[in-house]
Amino acid sequence: MQEKVKVIIGDKTIELPVIIGSEGEKAIDITALRQQTGYITLDPGFANTGSCVSSITFMDGEKGVLRYRGIPVEQLAENSTFVETAYLLINGVLPTKKELERFSALLNQHSLVHEDMKIFYQNYPRHSHPMGILSSMVNALRSFYPELPTSSAEEEINITVTRLISKVRTMAAMSYKISRGHKVVYPHPELDYCSNFLNMMFENPVKPYEIKKEFVKALNVFWILHADHEQNCSTSAVRLVGSARVNLYAAISAGISALWGPLHGGANQAVIEMLKQIHAGGEKVSRIVERAKDRKDPFRLMGFGHRVYKTYDPRAKIIKKTCDSLLDTLHISDPLLDIARELEEVALHDQYFIDHNLYPNVDFYSGIVLRALGIPTNMFTVMFAIGRLPGWIAQWKEGADDPKWKLYRPRQVYTGPTTTDYVGIDKRG
Ligand code: ACO
Repeated sequence: MQEKVKVIIGDKTIELPVIIGSEGEKAIDITALRQQTGYITLDPGFANTGSCVSSITFMDGEKGVLRYRGIPVEQLAENSTFVETAYLLINGVLPTKKELERFSALLNQHSLVHEDMKIFYQNYPRHSHPMGILSSMVNALRSFYPELPTSSAEEEINITVTRLISKVRTMAAMSYKISRGHKVVYPHPELDYCSNFLNMMFENPVKPYEIKKEFVKALNVFWILHADHEQNCSTSAVRLVGSARVNLYAAISAGISALWGPLHGGANQAVIEMLKQIHAGGEKVSRIVERAKDRKDPFRLMGFGHRVYKTYDPRAKIIKKTCDSLLDTLHISDPLLDIARELEEVALHDQYFIDHNLYPNVDFYSGIVLRALGIPTNMFTVMFAIGRLPGWIAQWKEGADDPKWKLYRPRQVYTGPTTTDYVGIDKRG
């Protein structure tokens, strides 16, 4: 029998169904609430609100669990590649050898970016943030790659998905090269996804780039860890914008804009800037921790805390391990890693952080991995965006495939003036 909850409002009692997820999570389905009672619910920040049912990603914030399509992220980071994980998220199952080869071949086939797009890159002011550029360029992709009148809806989606995953990587590397005044390096058909990206970023006619296998592994892990995170801010933006039935490029562009924020994906850049500031002698570790605790100071310890995780972020554990092993194996010394370790140690033993359940999130150590790969700080959030793309696509697709996909349109509790008459300009005080 279906579980129900009773809601008593004044002398009226209504029953609402309870939806139970496959991991036992329970939600009260309030779809009929307003119609039956006139009431709505209020949940700023949506911390108690499920915006959809989804079978893509499961996370348990209390236990520090993250799984894509049921597979623990630890296993994927250890054994999978980013491309395979992208396939898993989008298609729901791991690919066979043949399917993976076909997907990789398609990614290669679509990796070039329309030559005319280079002109746009060249005309952005040099100081432009790469996230702003990426968001607008992804939106512009629709103009360069319009819908094909001959293809079916399914073919159109498949081609758009492959184009996005492949081209965003090329576009990111391209923007870096152009920002440095360097010649753009084209994708190489013989290279895998991650090697290709590193090559496009760092190959140079006068200094050939050696693609280190440790770098390729670290990049695969970094992107796998970022590939999806259920209904986070940017994913919700993609679902919301997508629900208006805009094209997928426009919905993804909205996700990129949301991710840019320092409370979300922009935190990986903010962490490194904070660590650099400490390293330059601007702030002491103890002072940074004190500032983070001071309610009068808007400063927060970047890379700490999470809306859902109230324990150590499982992704942070993996990226910390990747960071240690990468720097050790390649004998890279980064003073920021020592500062990060010290900061973590102080924060984890501080009563404020204990009381508030504040632990390192994925962004705390990921920037040090990216630095080791040679990625400039202002590209960090772009790296996150490339990684999150399969998740955004999978979540958008889940919505689009649902025949009952509704336009996202929350309500509000209005607190402004009640009916007020218009006053002519000559009569205003
Ligand atoms: N440093 C200091 N205090 C913090 C921090 C922090 N990093 N994070 C939360 N708090 C405190 C708040 O001041 C608040 O304290 P109070 O209850 O005494 O007023 C309490 O913890 C709850 O904070 P909220 O902002 O209400 O919690 P929310 O769930 O909205 O915050 C967030 C989550 C935005 C991630 C927050 O922890 C934060 O700002 N962290 C720093 C930025 C960051 O690392 N973002 C990346 C998140 S992971 C990702 O998006 C990939």
